[in-house]
Amino acid sequence: MPDLPAGLPITVTEGPPAEERLCDAAELVERGRAFVWDVMLWGRPARAFALRFDGRPVAYLNRCVHVPTEMDWQEGEFLDIDKRWILCSIHGAAYEPADGRCVGGPCGRGKLTALRVAERDGQVYWYPSRDIAPVRFDEAAAPAPAPDAERAVHAVHAVHDGDAPPTSPTLPTEPPTT
Ligand code: FES
Repeated sequence: MPDLPAGLPITVTEGPPAEERLCDAAELVERGRAFVWDVMLWGRPARAFALRFDGRPVAYLNRCVHVPTEMDWQEGEFLDIDKRWILCSIHGAAYEPADGRCVGGPCGRGKLTALRVAERDGQVYWYPSRDIAPVRFDEAAAPAPAPDAERAVHAVHAVHDGDAPPTSPTLPTEPPTT
C-alpha cells in the first residue's frame, strides 16, 4: 500500500461481505423445494431463492422478468410439474433453471437475476454483490414493498394455495438452440 500524506482524512469503504451462509447442502434436494431468503436489492427488501438443479445449487432473485413480482406458486415451489423449468405462477413465463434464461412465455429474451452460490463442506453459501446485500438487523425498519406489489403477491398465493404445480401449454420441451 502506498504511503499517504499525513493529515488527510481517510474514508474506509466497506465492500460487500465475502460470503454468507445460506443453508445446509442437504436442504437443497435435487429439483425440490427452493430455499427462500430475504435480501436487500438496491437498499429495498426483496427475496431470493436457491434450488438444486442437475446436482448443483443455483440461486436467483425471486422476481419475474415480465412483471417484477415473486414467482413461486407456494412458498419455495418454483418448478413446473415435470420439475424441468422454473415457472412464474403469474402468467406462466418459463426459465431454464441452470442459467435463468427465459425459454417460453412473456419473459421475452430476459433472464432471471442470478446470485452467486457455492457449496462447500456440506454448506451452501451465497455471495452478496454491489446491488444485492444481506438483510442486517438495522434494516428491519426498511420501507415495505409498494402496496400494489404486495396485493399482487397475496392474490397469487391465495389462488395457488393448495393447488397442484402449475403447467403451461406453452412450455418448450427443450431450450431454444439460438
Ligand atoms: S409476472 Fe411472471 S409471467 Fe407475468
